[in-house]
Amino acid sequence: MVKISPSLFQFKSSELARAVKKISHADLIHIDVTDGTFVGQDKASLFYDPAKLKAVQANSDVPLDVHLMVEDPLTDLEKYAALSPRPEYISFHIEATTKSGQDPKAVIKKIRSYGIKPAIAVNPATSLAEIKGLLKSLDMVLLMSVVPGLPGQSYISDVNDKIIELKGMIDEKGLETLIQVDGGIKLENVNIPINAGADVIVSGTGIFSHKSYSPREVIDKMKSVIVLGSDHGGYELKEKIRAYLDNKGIAYKDMGCYDTQSVDYPNYADKVCKPILAGEYKRGMLFCGTGIGISIRANRYNGIRAALVHNEKTAKLAAEHNNANVLVMGGRTTSVQMAKKMFDAWYTTKFEERHQRRLDMLDKKC
Ligand code: RB5
Repeated sequence: MVKISPSLFQFKSSELARAVKKISHADLIHIDVTDGTFVGQDKASLFYDPAKLKAVQANSDVPLDVHLMVEDPLTDLEKYAALSPRPEYISFHIEATTKSGQDPKAVIKKIRSYGIKPAIAVNPATSLAEIKGLLKSLDMVLLMSVVPGLPGQSYISDVNDKIIELKGMIDEKGLETLIQVDGGIKLENVNIPINAGADVIVSGTGIFSHKSYSPREVIDKMKSVIVLGSDHGGYELKEKIRAYLDNKGIAYKDMGCYDTQSVDYPNYADKVCKPILAGEYKRGMLFCGTGIGISIRANRYNGIRAALVHNEKTAKLAAEHNNANVLVMGGRTTSVQMAKKMFDAWYTTKFEERHQRRLDMLDKKC
């Protein structure tokens, strides 16, 4: 599931209550803390005084995700651990501990001793080699996609390779560590870090200052991610569709498989259908050699309406009549050109409510 953590850095104290009420359905609230020295400013940020967080916590139930851009995380984290409720995450910078000689393991241990999830933040210029040995003890890694402390920067696209590299390191070790990305992210480019493998997105002005959408709408749109899955027979078509979605700026989560080695298609139907039923994604796509086996498995789940399609018309009607929440294609039976057309037809067609009665019947016991 992709989580959204709106950042409050742009607000003054007097604006906080109003701002947090607009993001009551966010997954986390990102709290930027600077001590006035670590990122080279001359003045500490608003939330360096944790009393300022009272206005946030009094007006919101969303858990806090505190990002410490400070020279002495070991001492400063105590102020945030004393909050009630406690933050869900506290992140600190590996660059801070490297500079001061503080042991990052001691900081992580102290954060965890308060029942808070520890995270480490990594600046754009810092290599992942610096945190490799710490991964096992972390719940999250925060990859900065701008240089912290300098205003008005755009997303540094080099971070994409870092996200991919970090995801590889996490998967290789079989860990559940989340990847958070922060800096220059807005609705228009959120698909880039998500498609590279980000789990948690931080965005400030991108959420609160969008020209056309309210903060609530931006969050919903940022979370509207398509979940993909295939077996080996569908792998190549899935890859082509992934590239197509990248080009169109559409966010996806790829549940595998990741190569052409023989695997069992029911497992990949499960990987896509379960999170849809858990509400983590609204729509998915599945691919196997013919699309048949994987759609049979998907349709064993009540609430999944998987449509195996072969042309634009069936793809369009799958949306219009069946409100298909999973689109299925056969990798060995579908051309890439047709697959793209079918995706477009399904993705852009609205369900016609007059068919709801029949949809209700689909999940009734036979
Ligand atoms: C795997 O070889 C193949 O059986 C599978 O991809 C699919 O076509 C099943 O329906």
